[in-house]
Amino acid sequence: MPHYLGIDVGTSAVKAILVDERQATVAEADVPLAISRPQHLWSEQDPEAWWQAVQSAMDGLQRDAASALADVRGIGLSGQMHGAVLLGQDHRPLRPAILWNDSRSFREAHELEDKHPGFSRIAGVIPMPGFTAPKLLWLARHEPETFRAIRKMILPKDYIRLKMTGAIVTDMSDAAGTWWLDEASRDWSDEVLAATGLTRGHMANLVEGSHASGIVRAEIAHRWGLRSDVVVAGGAGDAAAGAVGLGAIKDGAAFISLGTSGQLFVTTETYSPAPEAVVHSFCHALPNRWFQMAAMLNGASCLSWAADLLKREIGELLRETETAYKRPSALLFLPYLTGERTPHNDPYACGVFFGLSPDTRQADLAQAVLEGVAYSFADAKRALEQAGTPLTQAGIIGGGSRSSFWTRIFANVLNIPIMRYQGSDKGPAFGAARLARLAATGEAPEDVCTAPDVLETIAPEPHLVELYQPRIRAFRNLYQSLKAEFTRGAEGRI
Ligand code: XUL
Repeated sequence: MPHYLGIDVGTSAVKAILVDERQATVAEADVPLAISRPQHLWSEQDPEAWWQAVQSAMDGLQRDAASALADVRGIGLSGQMHGAVLLGQDHRPLRPAILWNDSRSFREAHELEDKHPGFSRIAGVIPMPGFTAPKLLWLARHEPETFRAIRKMILPKDYIRLKMTGAIVTDMSDAAGTWWLDEASRDWSDEVLAATGLTRGHMANLVEGSHASGIVRAEIAHRWGLRSDVVVAGGAGDAAAGAVGLGAIKDGAAFISLGTSGQLFVTTETYSPAPEAVVHSFCHALPNRWFQMAAMLNGASCLSWAADLLKREIGELLRETETAYKRPSALLFLPYLTGERTPHNDPYACGVFFGLSPDTRQADLAQAVLEGVAYSFADAKRALEQAGTPLTQAGIIGGGSRSSFWTRIFANVLNIPIMRYQGSDKGPAFGAARLARLAATGEAPEDVCTAPDVLETIAPEPHLVELYQPRIRAFRNLYQSLKAEFTRGAEGRI
């Protein structure tokens, strides 16, 4: 029976998932990754560490499901978006990759915005330090020798493609996050590239996520026990891959992604830029589709941070918090541990607990964290409304979606019903496996990208919705009151 493999090069782990023709999961492997933060605002990973992790994941799949691997017809890649992987003459990395959550290029991002205000409507979003283009401008200034040595600039998952196939290719949805793509025409923008001293010769070839990008090299196929004709699909950035996994491919399909970072994502059938709302309007992983996304840098990672700090196991802390829960907390938590993108575009913003007293218990802190992340999604919902896309309901995926209690908080804060799905924590790797199937079989996306079964729909509770409204206002006021202080604090550190 044909099988399909999805590999997600995430920030905290590489995940591989092997699915059969009925889209049932046959085997999975997860290999953790570390981030290096050599300086304040920096975040880097070594591309070779991704490749080592992919190889360990494949070793795991070979141990668990060798016969299914031998039947794989297609591989799809997904990955953390926006990272700058810089290749020299020999196609080896010139330096560690500069990741999506690295904010060192905040000055260059401002400069691009000031000099080229019209480019944001071409590139789908205002320039922010997370995106690839400002990173390259930073590099040209601070590491000019490395900049001059660049032959190709690729994205994280595309480094794995290079290792697997030898091809330098990316897909539209990942290219969309560089700030160099003309989102409407689904092609590199020569004009925007020139603003950062690059040409399309530095860029990867573009394919749609559901189309073939190459064939696995014979040596790798042999090592992993694959057939000799396995197609590698274009794949997708993790946001669009998550959407494909959830079947969010039709106009208006909306979901919350609550992983390390957080996104509020809506599929659109036309390209609808709204840079003024700090919304990202990017190409989807399937042809003739786009999406609008509010992207938050701090999602379920806030809960793991708090649990680590309190030396508690996450599940146990959540249970204790749920048992103690009565109403919105008097505490506020600003979740901006690594700055924020939508709606503030503020690399200096920090995490804050506000309202502590001698009575504050661990469960109070945890509730404030859960609510603070949900409040940041209220801002996201408002940004999408400003972009002309009001939400009436949404699905939820990612690690945070495992908690029914956290989803209930989201439903009450956002005042919309939220659906939890069966197996929704499979995430982008599952979407990548679907793209692999589309590339290998040419089937219609609607037939393959169906929605998973709904586990439960959590409806807003009117009395809690009402109690949350003033807390959302207080959350917004707290950020506004501290904004100047965040900037002053950061200036002392950089
Ligand atoms: C999306 C974004 C994150 C990264 C890391 O814009 O920055 O989703 O792709 O997962």
